[in-house]
Amino acid sequence: MRFFATTTLILAVSPLAFSLAGCANDKPADTSPKAIATAAKITKSDKFTYANYDKVRMTHLSLNLDVNFDEKVLDGTATIDFITVDPTASLLQLDTKDLTIRSVEGFAASGNWVSVDYVLHDKDAVMGSMLDIPFSKDMNKVRISYRTSPKAEGLQWLSPAQTAGKKLPYLFSQAQALNARTMTPVQDTPAVRITYDATLRVPDGLLPLMSAEQGSKDESGEYHFKMPQPIPSYLLAIAVGDIKFKAINDHIGVYAESYILDAAAEEFSETPMMEDANTKLYGPYRWGRYDLIVLPPSFPFGGMENPRLSFMTPTLIAGDKSLTNVVAHELAHSWSGNLVTNSSWRDAWLNEGVTSYVENRIMEELYGEGRAVMEQVLALDDLMRDLRTAKRPELTHLKLPEDMAHPDEAFTQVTYVKGQFFLQFLEQRFGRAEFDAFLKGYFDHYAFKSLSTEEFIKYLHDELHVKNPDALTSAELKAWVYGPGLPGSFITPISDAFAKVDAYRTAWLAGEAPKETTNWSTHEWLHFLNKMPENLTADQFKRLDSAFKFTGTQNAEIAFAWYMQAIKGNYNAVDKALEDFLMSVGRGKFIYRLYGALAKRDEATRIDAQRIYKHARPGYHPIARRRIDAIFAKYGGE
Ligand code: BES
Ligand code: ZN
Repeated sequence: MRFFATTTLILAVSPLAFSLAGCANDKPADTSPKAIATAAKITKSDKFTYANYDKVRMTHLSLNLDVNFDEKVLDGTATIDFITVDPTASLLQLDTKDLTIRSVEGFAASGNWVSVDYVLHDKDAVMGSMLDIPFSKDMNKVRISYRTSPKAEGLQWLSPAQTAGKKLPYLFSQAQALNARTMTPVQDTPAVRITYDATLRVPDGLLPLMSAEQGSKDESGEYHFKMPQPIPSYLLAIAVGDIKFKAINDHIGVYAESYILDAAAEEFSETPMMEDANTKLYGPYRWGRYDLIVLPPSFPFGGMENPRLSFMTPTLIAGDKSLTNVVAHELAHSWSGNLVTNSSWRDAWLNEGVTSYVENRIMEELYGEGRAVMEQVLALDDLMRDLRTAKRPELTHLKLPEDMAHPDEAFTQVTYVKGQFFLQFLEQRFGRAEFDAFLKGYFDHYAFKSLSTEEFIKYLHDELHVKNPDALTSAELKAWVYGPGLPGSFITPISDAFAKVDAYRTAWLAGEAPKETTNWSTHEWLHFLNKMPENLTADQFKRLDSAFKFTGTQNAEIAFAWYMQAIKGNYNAVDKALEDFLMSVGRGKFIYRLYGALAKRDEATRIDAQRIYKHARPGYHPIARRRIDAIFAKYGGE
């Protein structure tokens, strides 16, 4: 064990880092579940799990499920292999939420399954219900017979009418952050990794996919999946639908409903270049295939990094590849997040901030610095808004406070963009070549492990800072990680292209702009719109719309930016198109803020927004429903 004789950096940052000094493991990664489970002494730091993972740890999950569209449930068994870390432990505590448990059996040394007296505790609204399973010394496997609830927040069941093809139903999951427990009993914490396999039975004509090696149908009609690399529970994923496949190269392809398959393969055709750029910078892609699936429009995120199979919103299909930074982002999670994982949601910047940094590096590599900087400036605008509206300063720290009420609070632009800028700051101070080598080494060292902010800082200290002690001060580091907002050492990105857009906007609003249409990228249009002055007149709105045809645009990002302006400026000519947008798009990034702005404007607008929401709500994802219900509840609405 090394102590910090040469510098007090780590101690100054956090006393915790000191007690974690023994955790770093210098041996090459052994990725067997047993090795992972026993590798590090874990103290429980994730408060959003009931699991006693400091004492007993799952190593493998084996699912055997009927996908029942009539009842909207997954129904079958979950078999869990576990090891005891604390030899005195005799209770396996699992997370469940809205699951019906029928029975629990343990596999005894006698070679028989024996019934076990489990206890399913009362439900907590955020955490769900703890499942206590007592086990005897000779048990290392339990089998739980269960079914999910039709209301499971992690599963969206779409009727045929809610799909593009209209003939067959669709199911997709969203486990991050706390919803794996609505799909299966599990130790639902990013601190624990498991391998998994699954046997699925689905109705005829439907294709099931998982975040795993895709299985083919056997003679009995069952599909078999296998995930040999250990993953945290939030990366468990399933999609079932009338789904077709198109290859992009020999190990990258796209799944989608047929209406959008060709367009998606074209939109995402540069994914192999992104993979090459990632591999060159940060080491091998370790997951076998990389496929994308374009989900129905109710998918509440831009993308979700399910291993081997990123889930994507169809709102990325703009026709000009201008929104593919989301692909770069989800692919980048194959290093930051999926390979090297935050050990609690308080450390979410280790997943999302590092990934946003890598994403931006990939965009720079493929499309040049100009585009990367434009994306930084747009991201900075979003960050500034979240900093202004943060409920309390602690929620603007990278290391989030112990008393966060829900992991939702962790996924703000602070985690993404401040996290990204923190790494840019480190890159600036240590130099790009040094920092690239550091990150590559970090992904290798922590491959298939979970770590905390404090472990990251210790690793940074040992691998980079001791070699370049003058690059930064501990006060600077502390301000980034444990301080509010953006620290003094932040260097604001400046985009030359956006400076031209600013000049054009000013001229245009004054009626002086040249008549010919501009040859702008989506990013320039977004900046043009986002920085409109507060007090646009009705006439200016009309002129903008007739010159640039924003209302009804098929580019979802531009549509969103325009509708936000229109709502603020009372430009009601967008109302019909805005309603169509809200009825057809379920991506949270857009609809939460649109409903928020509508609810805020005035009472009449709020009532109208509630009418739209009432129609749209059945088609939205359970996660989106919870979030929008909360927006209207603030105003004492339904
Ligand atoms: N892992 C996130 C999505 C997520 C976060 C799901 C928290 C559930 C809880 C994913 O990688 C992500 O960050 N998606 C972004 C896109 C990205 C380019 C910023 C999104 O969905 O907007
Ligand atoms: Zn992400």
